[in-house]
Amino acid sequence: MRHIPVLLNEVIEGLQLQSGMHVIDCTLGDAGHSEKILEQIGTTGKLLGIDADPEAILRAKQYLYKFDAQVIFVRNNFINLKTIVEENKFNPINGILMDFGWSTPQFEERGRGFSFEKTDELLDMRYGSNFQFTIFNLQNPNVSDLINSLDGQELEKIFREYGEEKLSKEIAKMIVEIRKEKNIKTVGDLVEIILKVYRTKLKTDKEIPWVGGLHPATKTFQALRIAVNNEFGVIEDVLPQAIEVLHRGGRLAVITFHSLEDRIVKHYFKSQENKTIKLINKKPVVCTEEEYKNNPRARSAKLRVIEKL
Ligand SMILES: C[S@@+](CC[C@H](N)C(=O)[O-])C[C@H]1O[C@@H](n2cnc3c(N)ncnc32)[C@H](O)[C@@H]1O
Repeated sequence: MRHIPVLLNEVIEGLQLQSGMHVIDCTLGDAGHSEKILEQIGTTGKLLGIDADPEAILRAKQYLYKFDAQVIFVRNNFINLKTIVEENKFNPINGILMDFGWSTPQFEERGRGFSFEKTDELLDMRYGSNFQFTIFNLQNPNVSDLINSLDGQELEKIFREYGEEKLSKEIAKMIVEIRKEKNIKTVGDLVEIILKVYRTKLKTDKEIPWVGGLHPATKTFQALRIAVNNEFGVIEDVLPQAIEVLHRGGRLAVITFHSLEDRIVKHYFKSQENKTIKLINKKPVVCTEEEYKNNPRARSAKLRVIEKL
């Protein structure tokens, strides 16, 4: 199943693309945005597409086969944006897109433990596993490494800050208890712990004690994905690089899916307003009712666009 790009028309309008432009897609995914961008910039335009996930690059190459001569594919973490631009001598840069988070095939098909429904999968959740990444003093950890190595307080902090999980403390405590007996390796191992905590707290024996329409594991899984990929850290790092590499008058469009992510983008843009950039929209652009009906994932998407001065 191909990922449906969110806020597609809004991104295209925001970037103000013209024939012959050079554009970077920092989060290529299934290349839905890139395909449309390539249509707009015509045969003289060029696109540099980055993704940390090797399978995303393979899929994007297939989706963009018609435009092969105009696209440079780079498997890397966008935290290295400036180096990637220099190495590929890609300039001048007229537009940059960032569409954070995961793509539908990563979530549904990749077998990396992104979804709490795939109970047999290993708890990995890294977008790309071949980068030298030190986080929480662990070298290139996956989620299972975090769960089995961090102390209770660190786990609690991750669940609270990145997932806004109300039972952070209880879940962290139970993890620390259970891992004394056995390593927590699979999605099913972790989901069982979370369900146990919720059943105890809500004094129910329901198999899945749904909370306001959400599966109890939703927030913990989100928090761990953010932590293992250092998602907020990489956003903080990439924004100044993007503005630096953009050509004057070039535009940057950023789509976030989490309020904390959006806050980082909003504050950074505010700090640069009228110094290095101009805000194109004061308030973030959100999806229409119609888009939400066709693609529920668009519900939490927020788009912010700036122009380099
Ligand atoms: C929401 S998807 C992008 C979907 C894409 N716009 C489309 O139309 O199909 C986000 C993509 O960004 C990639 N990604 C996430 N964090 C990354 C990072 N730090 N560096 C490089 N790629 C990253 C993921 O692997 C995923 O393929």
